[in-house]
Amino acid sequence: MKTAITELFGIQHPIIQGGMHYVGFAELAAAVSNAGGLGIITGLTQKTPELLAKEIARCRDMTDKPFGVNLTFLPSFTAPPYPEYIAAIKEAGVRIVETAGRSPEQYMPVLKTAGIKVIHKCTSVRHSLKAEKIGCDAVSVDGFECGGHPGEDDIPNMILLPRAADELKVPFVASGGMADARSLVAALAMGAAGMNMGTRFIATKEAPVHPNVKKALVEATELDTRLVMRALRNTERVLKNKGVDQLLKIEREKANTLKIQDIQEQVAGVYPKVMVDGDMDAGAWSCGMVVGLINDIPTVKELIDRIMAGAEQIIRQRLTGFLDGDEAQKPVRAVA
Ligand SMILES: Cc1cc2nc3c(=O)[nH]c(=O)nc-3n(C[C@H](O)[C@H](O)[C@H](O)COP(=O)(O)O)c2cc1C
Repeated sequence: MKTAITELFGIQHPIIQGGMHYVGFAELAAAVSNAGGLGIITGLTQKTPELLAKEIARCRDMTDKPFGVNLTFLPSFTAPPYPEYIAAIKEAGVRIVETAGRSPEQYMPVLKTAGIKVIHKCTSVRHSLKAEKIGCDAVSVDGFECGGHPGEDDIPNMILLPRAADELKVPFVASGGMADARSLVAALAMGAAGMNMGTRFIATKEAPVHPNVKKALVEATELDTRLVMRALRNTERVLKNKGVDQLLKIEREKANTLKIQDIQEQVAGVYPKVMVDGDMDAGAWSCGMVVGLINDIPTVKELIDRIMAGAEQIIRQRLTGFLDGDEAQKPVRAVA
């Protein structure tokens, strides 16, 4: 399949693996790129720019296909040295960066001068237009369903994607709630040129996380995510667990007086406990509603191949069949 996104990034399939803290290591990024998608290393999971350079080198040892690095600009207890991270990306010859969180405007000149293609992930049409205006090559439009930070507008992708299609000139991918062939075809129908997946890629053989995490994803349903930190205007969609229950209790008690320090135990330093140690009750870690569509742990290649094969089948048989009038009323059951 060829779309504006496959052409922009030089990839075979219009499927991107979004940056994920403590998940987006070289193993997963390389597996996605080797399977024809765009793998992304999560920059800030690497504690220093030097470590990021090493992670990029490890990824390059595992794939000769294009891959990218995610740089997330979120409020944090101490701001990371972004210019040094960008220098590491540039010097390592990575030519694709996924930015997220705050606008990457101040870093655009250095990224563009280095010939880096920038895809900015954002949760609203106005932020997408801003990204286009400051020179981003593409946008990842992240709906309310998404795992991680859905912003504060709460617009699901059924509305957000066609709104983005009506306004944007640069290509965009649908992000949030994407899991299978049906997601991809729906995203394309709504004007996207591909899709970005987070949560679904964690439940793959290559995702370098504790087996408890993958098991939790297979067991959870679409009812099992919660929104936290809304009072701080830093809303995050996470998987419900004992730590999150405690966090929500504190949020209810503190209401509008909530400060980040009140919930530090439930939000800071949680990722290594969950992803490395497999402590599933440690606290808040991002997870999308799409978890309700995850029922197995395939290899990345199996996942991507069946998405692409399923998408072709839906387009050629089901959709064309409707036009030709000879498609029986068959449900499109999950193939991915
Ligand atoms: C465990 C986890 C960690 C994430 N960490 C980051 C991150 O550090 N930076 C970022 O830009 N997005 C992060 N995301 C968001 C994903 O890149 C992606 O946009 C999102 O998962 C899409 O929604 P989905 O989970 O429904 O596919 C994370 C998502 C998950 C599930």
